[in-house]
Amino acid sequence: MSLATQMPFFSQNWPIITLGLVCYLSFRVISHFFKKTTSTDGPDSTGDAKKTGVYRTPDQVAEIKEDEDWDEETEFPDISSALPADLEHIPFNFERFTPEEMVKRSEEFYRLMNRRRTIRFFSSEPVPFKVIENVVRAAGTGPSGAHTEPWTFVVVSDQEVKEKIRQIIEDEEEVNYKKRMGVQWTTDLRPLRTNWIKEYLTEAPYIILVFKQMYGIKPDGGKKIHYYNEMSVAMASGLLLTAVHYSGLVSLTSTPLNCGPALRTLLGRPASEKLTLLLPVGYPAKDATVPNLSRKPIEDIMVHI
Ligand SMILES: Cc1cc2nc3c(=O)[nH]c(=O)nc-3n(C[C@H](O)[C@H](O)[C@H](O)COP(=O)(O)O)c2cc1C
Repeated sequence: MSLATQMPFFSQNWPIITLGLVCYLSFRVISHFFKKTTSTDGPDSTGDAKKTGVYRTPDQVAEIKEDEDWDEETEFPDISSALPADLEHIPFNFERFTPEEMVKRSEEFYRLMNRRRTIRFFSSEPVPFKVIENVVRAAGTGPSGAHTEPWTFVVVSDQEVKEKIRQIIEDEEEVNYKKRMGVQWTTDLRPLRTNWIKEYLTEAPYIILVFKQMYGIKPDGGKKIHYYNEMSVAMASGLLLTAVHYSGLVSLTSTPLNCGPALRTLLGRPASEKLTLLLPVGYPAKDATVPNLSRKPIEDIMVHI
C-alpha cells in the first residue's frame, strides 16, 4: 500500500502543512533574533551570562524556577558592584507629625493634586528657568532600582528646536490618527478633542523630554544594568508632573507614538536611551479650556483588606 493511500490527509495537504511549518519556524527564528537585539536589560543578559547567573535582570529572575540548583561560586563571582562596596550607612533624619497633622497634610495634598489638569492650550509667557531646574531636581529624587537613576530629562527652550520637534510629531501623529490608531482609539479620544495639530509644542516656553536609560556606564567603563528602568522612570515622571503643578505651572502628559528614534537623534541622545514622555510646560493660555472629567471615587480605586 502506498504512503498516499495510508495517509490521505498528508498526501492531499502536504503543501499547506509544509508552508505552515516553514512559517512557524521562521517566526521562531525571527522572534528569537528580535528578542536578542532589542533586549533592554543591559549587557550579556542572554546566553552564557544568564546561565552563570553573573547578570540577571528582574524578568530573568522571575523566570527561574525555585528548584533550580544554586551554586555559591557562580552566584557570587568576582565582579564589582555599581555602588561602592563599602557604601556608608548613616542615621535617617525623620520629621514626625501628629496624627491630626498627618490627616490635615494628606487632605491638603490631595486637594492640591486634584486641581492638576492636562492642559492643551499654552501661553508663550516666559517661565523662570530656575523653576524648571527645580522640578527636574524633584523628579530626580525618585526611587530607582538599585539606585541606578536611569533617567535623562532634556529641557528644550530653543524655538528652532521646538519647531523641529513639532514637525516630527505632527508628521507622525497625522499617520497615527489616520492609519495606525484605528477607529476605537480615535473614537475614545474624540471627547478630549485631540488631533495631530500640536500648537502647544511651539507655544509653551519649555518642553521636557524624559528618556529612560536602558543601561549606564560604570566608573571602570563596564556597562551598568538599570534594573526596573521603566518603572523607575515612570515614578520620576509622576514626581515631575507633581512638581510642575505645585510650582504653579501646567503641563501636558504625552507619549508621542513612533517619534522616539527621530527625537532621540534630533536631541543627540545615545542609543542606550529611549524616549518615554514628552511634557510641554508653562502657563495656560488665557482662554484655555479642559474637558469636564470626573475622577473615580475612593471606593472604586481602593480595596482595604
Ligand atoms: C501615558 C499618557 C499619555 C498621554 N498622551 C496624551 C497625548 O498624546 N495627548 C493628549 O492630549 N493627552 C495625553 N494624555 C493625557 C490624558 O488624556 C489625560 O491625563 C486624561 O484625559 C485625564 O485628564 P487630566 O490629566 O486632566 O486628569 C496622556 C496621558 C497619559 C498618562
